[in-house]
Amino acid sequence: MIKYFSTIMLTSLNINPSLQKIESEIVKIFKSVDKDIFDMAKNPFNFIGKATRAKFTLLLGDILGIKRRLSQEIAICAELIHTASLLHDDCIDNSSVRRGLKTINSKMGSNTAILLGDLTVSFAFDCAMKINHETAATLVNTVKKMTEGALLEENLKYKKISRQEYDKIISLKTASIFNWCAISVCRASDKIELLKTCSIIAKSIGAGFQIIDDALDFESANGSLNKNVLKDITAGKITLPLILAMADKTCGDEIKNKVRELKNSGFANIHIAIEIAKTVKAKKFTNKARKTAKSMIDDIAPYIDELPSNNAKTEFKNFIFALINRTS
Ligand code: FPP
Ligand code: MG
Repeated sequence: MIKYFSTIMLTSLNINPSLQKIESEIVKIFKSVDKDIFDMAKNPFNFIGKATRAKFTLLLGDILGIKRRLSQEIAICAELIHTASLLHDDCIDNSSVRRGLKTINSKMGSNTAILLGDLTVSFAFDCAMKINHETAATLVNTVKKMTEGALLEENLKYKKISRQEYDKIISLKTASIFNWCAISVCRASDKIELLKTCSIIAKSIGAGFQIIDDALDFESANGSLNKNVLKDITAGKITLPLILAMADKTCGDEIKNKVRELKNSGFANIHIAIEIAKTVKAKKFTNKARKTAKSMIDDIAPYIDELPSNNAKTEFKNFIFALINRTS
């Protein structure tokens, strides 16, 4: 079993048993697959990672007073969809490490990783259908949005993109699944009047989470993360720290030239990526991106105030704080 709280400590409510249940249910689903189709034993794979979407769902569900059994079911769907998207994303990025383990694409090839991702999507829909039709239907729309976000990101690779274009990418590819978790728990509660509030909170947390992830991709160039180094720039993905650097008067032209060089280098040239990252960090664009994420979270404080006040809300605030200040 995976240790969930290496970076985030949640205390009084103890969501650990629920997280363990979510993980064991997901493992059970994968174990039910014929070994000649996918053999888990031969392909160690971390099915839940940091469980951010599960924690978000459980805590918001607790605030709204829904039964853990229900929030667990919603969290299982979200983690399955997230895992499926990562199986595909690792093929797109040609990544070799995910959640501390070798990726399926690097071990077994992209074909297997793509197909395992497809299988995982079908598991998620199986689970969502067991909750109710509306939950499954909104999940279909969420996968559509995630895929649109990934396609938009693909179309804009190596380009000088605007902040608006970046916001659209992260809203689609990342925030939409947080939004689905929030609307699903809210619809399962007797507080349907809070649907819009929950949605606003979820979208900002999702976007803020992705901005921190994008800042970490530059910060991890020091080798502190057990992840691929500078995988966003090497894959041509233009994220907020780089958008800020490209728009800067003092280094914008230099950065744009290096991004062009990187594109024309024919293969992921890590040396050019390291030079870009050095400037981005030296000019503190990763810090500026982090500040943007924090102010997005500050802006949702009035909406969080609208939620019922209970212990779960305190835990939820701690969870968001840890998420937005994380360094790994
Ligand atoms: C990781 O982002 C990837 C996503 C947030 C979503 C990617 C979506 C797809 C590939 C569309 C397909 C969707 C499904 C459900 C099959 P990242 O690359 O910024 O994060 P990383 O640093 O963890 O790689
Ligand atoms: Mg990626």
